[in-house]
Amino acid sequence: MEDYIVELTVNGERISSPVKPEESLLKFLRRNGFTEVKCGCEKGECGTCTVIINKKTVKSCIMLALQARGKEIWTAKGLEKQELGRKLQESFVNTGAIQCGFCTPGIIVTAKNYLDQNPIPDKGEIKKAISGNLCRCTGYKKIVDAIYAVAVENQKSI
Ligand code: FES
Ligand code: FES
Repeated sequence: MEDYIVELTVNGERISSPVKPEESLLKFLRRNGFTEVKCGCEKGECGTCTVIINKKTVKSCIMLALQARGKEIWTAKGLEKQELGRKLQESFVNTGAIQCGFCTPGIIVTAKNYLDQNPIPDKGEIKKAISGNLCRCTGYKKIVDAIYAVAVENQKSI
């Protein structure tokens, strides 16, 4: 089938690339060098492929690249350009919340979008917010601690 041209913005950078109609946004992003968006289940269940699109989290494996035309997308790597994203990345390292790291980009993206809307959550709220992201290694405690540390910092600055 014929290729379509998709133009969108990823981490503030304009991308234009031909796509097959059936190509997922996940495959499109990885093919264009955004390999920090991880490919797990490809069924919308594990959350490793999560990105932010127009201020909402989306599992990119269950969205077509064509549906993302003209949208503004942020991945975990691009979040280093934003203060809150950078703080989360540092907090994950400082708290030891990363083991194999496969789930980390998706969880940081989810946490960033959540804290943008709810900057001072408690630990229970954080657990709920990341419930769509699976981690095989950590048992979640240090992940929740890392996000909570940023929430505590947010509270001090308000
Ligand atoms: S790869 Fe998308 S949710 Fe698992
Ligand atoms: S750190 Fe390995 S899956 Fe989460």
